[in-house]
Amino acid sequence: MDKLIIFDTTLRDGEQVPGCQLNTVEKIEIAKALESLGVDIIEAGFPVSSPGDFNSVVEISKAVTWPVICALTRAVEHDIDVAAEALKYAKRGRIHTGIGTSEYHIRHKFNSNQEEILQRAVAAVKHAKKYVEDVEFYCEDAGRTENEYLVRMVEAVIKAGATTVNIPDTTGYCLPDEYGEKIRFLKEHVANVEHAILSTHCHNDLGMATANTVQGVLNGARQVEVTINGIGERAGNTALEEIAMIFRSHREKNISTNINTTKIYGISRMVSALMNMPVQPNKAIVGRNAFAHSSGIHQDGILKNRESYEIIDPREIGIDDNAIVLTARSGRAALKHRLSVLGIQADQEKLDKVYAQFLKLADSKKNISDDDILMLVGKDRTETHCIKLDYLQVVSGFGVQPVASICLNLSGVKRYETAAGNGPVDAAIKAVKKAISNSDMTIQEFLIQAINKGSDDTGKVHIQVEYQGNIFYGFSANTDIVAAATEAFIDAINKFIC
Ligand code: KIV
Ligand code: ZN
Repeated sequence: MDKLIIFDTTLRDGEQVPGCQLNTVEKIEIAKALESLGVDIIEAGFPVSSPGDFNSVVEISKAVTWPVICALTRAVEHDIDVAAEALKYAKRGRIHTGIGTSEYHIRHKFNSNQEEILQRAVAAVKHAKKYVEDVEFYCEDAGRTENEYLVRMVEAVIKAGATTVNIPDTTGYCLPDEYGEKIRFLKEHVANVEHAILSTHCHNDLGMATANTVQGVLNGARQVEVTINGIGERAGNTALEEIAMIFRSHREKNISTNINTTKIYGISRMVSALMNMPVQPNKAIVGRNAFAHSSGIHQDGILKNRESYEIIDPREIGIDDNAIVLTARSGRAALKHRLSVLGIQADQEKLDKVYAQFLKLADSKKNISDDDILMLVGKDRTETHCIKLDYLQVVSGFGVQPVASICLNLSGVKRYETAAGNGPVDAAIKAVKKAISNSDMTIQEFLIQAINKGSDDTGKVHIQVEYQGNIFYGFSANTDIVAAATEAFIDAINKFIC
């Protein structure tokens, strides 16, 4: 079997989703879970972009042992110097530098020409080589770069010392045969191609990210750049779990990875919970419905022989039907065990905090699922809030006008308000606006999603609020969906009012 290198960029390209930024502690938690999943390389950040990113690369380098830690740069000396500094604790560090190679980038972004860009690329690789042996070069917008120029670029950066060359379809434009052909063309025409590994990096704007990545691999790429749940800017990146399961299911392709697939489900839920990004129910491999057979014919077939309708045994990705469901009577040890199955190592302080929240939730909900637990582990977003919800009561029903009464704590000062609305959520939001004496914001998107099923389930609310031309994101989860909606709204307004 040929080894396929898994390069995870959840913490860099994935984390660029607006409103889903993680703090360093959360990034370390995900990095450790990626390590136990078996990824080969973790792209930990873009150090020159912010002190937070710099710090995350430093801390992840200290926290993780086996995977190579990678830091992104532009083809700029200062970026590379800063990346090298951030990588100083990495047991094995990689600098990922690069520049736009398509005419769109060369002419419009850099106001330059092909020769000058080639020289800048070579200079960047040579500069990075002064710090690390392991240098990856990306040809940004390679998907729309003419193949002949790409050959010259790839050859030049390999000659300068690049050990991996990344061929990103930055805009998600390519079709699978076109992208596969591009990789094949490079394999056949770059004179020194055997001195480097070619990498795929596909975006999903046309829904082709996974198909393009597979074609890239079948045509000779031996590294794939992927994210958990396929998260990423716009339509996202190629999903790690899809690539891992495609090559596991199609053994005839002779491609193997180091991924311990039984960890896939846990890390998928962890990333979703920490980033507050719901996984769409029909998402391949990790969606809630990925293994739910509802038609009678399918159910009958599955009962007779699972393989008649299922190509993957859910246990292969870590879905355990016999998983213990926690209840109000479960102790700290059971919770700690469940957290560790989900890839979360909780110290005593964290365990106590999550356990207190767990007991509160178990009061209003009989069975606590993995998704509930991961939701509890998510950030305590109210800690830094200057506007907090102290109290909410809503009267609503059939034939009555919904009315909400609230008490907000505004930096220590209590404000009571009442408002009527066309529904309980509308009434509560209007009461919040009255209490803060500001009604200039509008809700642009409002998504309520149940975590599992049942009328006692926890509802997750994602909200987008527009204020003075900018969008702010809010999230909350509660068994009372009106309370969850109000808390999510307050979470968003704290981002521009405080
Ligand atoms: O999509 C892209 O081109 C990238 C590069 C910076 C690697 O993310
Ligand atoms: Zn990208």
